[in-house]
Amino acid sequence: MEFDTLPSTNELAREMAVQGAVEGTTILAREQTAGRGRLGRTWTSAAGEGLYVSIILRPKVQPRRFSIMTLASAVAVAETLISEFAVTPDIKWPNDVLVSDRKVCGILLETATEGDKLEYAILGIGVNLGQPDFPDDIRESSTSLLLETRRLIGAEEFLWPLLDRLQYWYQAATSAPAQCLARWEQLSSYARDCRVRVISTAGDYDGVTRGLTETGSLIVELPGGESREVVSGEVSLRRLPAAAKGSS
Ligand code: BTN
Repeated sequence: MEFDTLPSTNELAREMAVQGAVEGTTILAREQTAGRGRLGRTWTSAAGEGLYVSIILRPKVQPRRFSIMTLASAVAVAETLISEFAVTPDIKWPNDVLVSDRKVCGILLETATEGDKLEYAILGIGVNLGQPDFPDDIRESSTSLLLETRRLIGAEEFLWPLLDRLQYWYQAATSAPAQCLARWEQLSSYARDCRVRVISTAGDYDGVTRGLTETGSLIVELPGGESREVVSGEVSLRRLPAAAKGSS
């Protein structure tokens, strides 16, 4: 379903999921007036500048295994960028897609569970396509495909190949999760041996990444050698400069 303007494609998708809309229902808007991002942020969604799409999912997996779905979505976006638009992406855990170290795509996965059962999930994807510039507060950390390729790519031109990749990786996430995790690690410079600051409401800490667990959590080794499993949710990462040779 396509709309000129909506408050948020995720919000409409959620309302439709509650009313029983089938898996795969896809909602696209040219503009969002209340686009939302992770961690309670807003997602600026001006007309014609981005892809704003949400898909209703009803996967038959335990909620604790669900974060593989978010990693699968980032893999699908990254592969679309490589194969269709010849740009080299990176993935910042869990699912920010970067180009030239700046964010080009954000993914917001909102789930509804009942007991140990996932009722539905809304996969929301925002891709920066046509911004010629960004506001001061995000200029250093954001980019668009217009800035990276000098070409204005339309929302549908990005969406169709993306839906193919999403279908492939969504199935792989349930039937071959190890393949999905391996592909994510291949595409992410953050996956291993990357010094990061983990920023969370429970407190920040620094460490070095050591790959993913079988459920898609990020393993971070602390300076003392102890490992922590970082579960996606209210957490974000920041890359730290590599440690100087000789220091621990
Ligand atoms: C992030 O914070 O990185 C996630 C951003 C997700 C934005 C997309 S745009 C389509 C969908 N509808 C929303 O309101 N948000 C998501």
